[in-house]
Amino acid sequence: MSQITQDQDEHLVKPEELPPGVDLRPHVYDGIQEYDQRLPNWWLWSLYIFIIGYGVFWLAYYQFGMFQDDEARLAGRMQAISVRQAAELESLLAELDSDALWRMSRNSQFVASGKVIYTEKCVACHAADLSSRMGEVQLPGVPLNGREWIYCMLDGSTPVDAVTADPMKIFGLIHNGSPDPTKGMQAWGQDLGPRRVAEVTAYVLSYHDAPPLEAEPDDTSP
Ligand code: HEC
Repeated sequence: MSQITQDQDEHLVKPEELPPGVDLRPHVYDGIQEYDQRLPNWWLWSLYIFIIGYGVFWLAYYQFGMFQDDEARLAGRMQAISVRQAAELESLLAELDSDALWRMSRNSQFVASGKVIYTEKCVACHAADLSSRMGEVQLPGVPLNGREWIYCMLDGSTPVDAVTADPMKIFGLIHNGSPDPTKGMQAWGQDLGPRRVAEVTAYVLSYHDAPPLEAEPDDTSP
C-alpha cells in the first residue's frame, strides 16, 4: 500500500522535524501520514460529560417521564382537567336540584355570571333575548324564553301551567348537548365545567316564572 513515489517522499514529514512529544505512526497511505497523539483533555472531557449527560437524560426522559413533549404534556393536563371536572360535577350534582337552580336564578350574582357565559357562548344561536330571532331572522337555535320546550318540559306541565321549565333537564341538556347531535346543540360540559353550566342554566331560568320556593334554610337561627 505504501508505495511512496520519489515526489511524495519529499513532502513527507520526518520524525526528527517534529517538536518534542509529537509522534508519527509508522505507516503512510497515499502520501498521508498519521499523528500518534493522545487526545487533548478538553476533548476527552467533552466526550465523558456527554456520555454521562446522555445517561442522565435517558433515565429522566425514558424512565421517569420528565421533559415530555408538548403533546404528552397537553394530554396529561387535559386528563387532569377532565378528572377534576368529573369530581366537581359529582359534588355539584350532590347538592344541585331544581330548587337550588331556581334559587340561583333569583340571585343576581349567579344570573350576572350566567349572562356573561350566555353572551359569549350562546347568543349566536339563541339571541340575546333568548328568542332565537334577530329581527326577522331565525337563528339556528330554538327559543329558550317560551313556554314550550323540546327537551326541558316539566313533567305533567302544560303550557297553561305557571311553570313549564324543568331546571335539571335544562342543566342536563346544556351539559350533555342535544340527544340528536346533528341538530347543532353541542355538549358544553367539557368546555364550561359544571359550575358554569349551572350559572348559565340560572340565567336561562331567570327568564321564567319560578315555582314558590321554600325559604332558604337559615343557618344563623339558633
Ligand atoms: C350552534 C348553535 C347553538 C349554540 C351556540 C347553542 N345552542 Fe342551544 N340549541 C341549539 C339548537 C339547534 C337546539 C335544538 C336542538 C334539538 O332540537 O335537538 C338547542 C337547544 C337548546 C336547549 C333546549 C331547548 C328545549 O326546547 O328543550 C337549551 C336549554 C339550550 N339550547 C341552551 C343553550 C345554551 C345555554 C347555550 C350556550 C352555552 C347554547 N344553547 C348554545 C343551537 C345552539
